[in-house]
Formats: sequence, C-alpha cells, structure tokens
Amino acid sequence: MKYNGPGKMAAIMKEYCPNTNVSVLDCGAGTGIVGEKLHALGYKNVDGVDISQKSLDFAEQKGVYRKLVCADIEQKLPFEEKEFDVVVCSGGICPAHVAPSKCFQEWTRVVKKGGYVIIILRRCYVELQEGEEAYYSQSLGEEFNSEIRKLEESKTWRVILRETFPAYCYDKGIFSDGIVLVCKVTLF
Ligand SMILES: C[S@@+](CC[C@H](N)C(=O)[O-])C[C@H]1O[C@@H](n2cnc3c(N)ncnc32)[C@H](O)[C@@H]1O
Repeated sequence: MKYNGPGKMAAIMKEYCPNTNVSVLDCGAGTGIVGEKLHALGYKNVDGVDISQKSLDFAEQKGVYRKLVCADIEQKLPFEEKEFDVVVCSGGICPAHVAPSKCFQEWTRVVKKGGYVIIILRRCYVELQEGEEAYYSQSLGEEFNSEIRKLEESKTWRVILRETFPAYCYDKGIFSDGIVLVCKVTLF
C-alpha cells in the first residue's frame, strides 16, 4: 500500500508551524516516516511515541527523533503538561488502532496554549465512501466527530482546518482520500 500521510503532515507543518524550532510529539510514530519527513524540512525537536518497541527500534536507526518512548497513547501520556508546541498523528486513528475518545483530550494536555494538534487519517474509516464501504466504521466516525465537537464546545481547541485531500493512499487498485484536521489548542 502506498501511503502519503507523512508527506501531507510535513506540508501542513510547513504551512501552520513554519518555525522549525518547535517541539513536536509524533503520536503513533511507528517506523518513523513522519519524523523523516519533518527532519528533511529542518524540524529537529521531534519526539515520538508508539506502543510497538520493534517499530521504535526501526525509527531510532533513522536518527531523526530527539527521543522515542514506548507507551500506549490511549492512556495518560508520559509527558508533562504543555510540553510540546504541536502533537501530530498520521495514520494512528483507524478502526484497529487508536480511539479518538481515548486520546484527543490527552493530546491537548501536553500541548501549550496556542499550539496545535494535527491529525491525518484515511477518510473512508470515518466517512462512507463509494467503493470503500468495507473500511467504514460508523462507530469510529461518530466517535471522531463527537470528540472534535466536545473539545470545541468546551473551548479546549478550535478546528481551524478540516479538509479532504486526494491520494492519501493507494490500496488494492483504489486511490483513497485523506482527512487532515488542524486544531488550535485554546484552553490550557
Ligand atoms: C498506520 S501506523 C502509522 C505509523 C506512522 N505514523 C506513519 O505515518 O508511518 C499506526 C501506528 O500506531 C501505533 N499504535 C496503534 N495503537 C497504539 C496505541 N494504543 N498506542 C501507541 N501507538 C499505537 C502502531 O504501533 C503503528 O505504529
């Protein structure tokens, strides 16, 4: 499967957080592709967290992260309040991985006021797409939208971009759209 989430994340970071000194936490960092893309743009203060130590060992070898931590991002994160300017997550939100209700609020805790939470995911997981019905999870879609709304209503974050973009991934002969969500943390 060809996958362009990390490339899109790097482009969004360049647009919304052009200062390459910002501290970034890559949630669900996996083998470190997002870290690689950010490093290539000059971001040097990128930490990563993932539940798979094996993936993190792979990411470590790339030498693009400041620190890598093995932890479950559906639990309280092993980071201080307001430790980061930005939390990014590419590909972590999907039916088999991370649940929005278990991590969105926590991501806002570790981000400074005025910082960003940036999330990229495959559109068909949360929105019904013709030809991709098999991937759709109504419960994930409802949870995703309800968490976004809840954090807006409590003025914890403000969604400043929610955009569909093409060619997020190419899977079994189909180009799938992605969704990018840029949220500005306003409460803490
Ligand atoms: C589709 S991969 C995306 C990896 C990377 N962000 C990328 O763009 O290449 C999803 C990642 O989320 C991680 N993950 C899944 N559930 C997790 C959890 N509860 N806590 C931390 N990481 C988790 C997986 O180990 C995997 O590395």
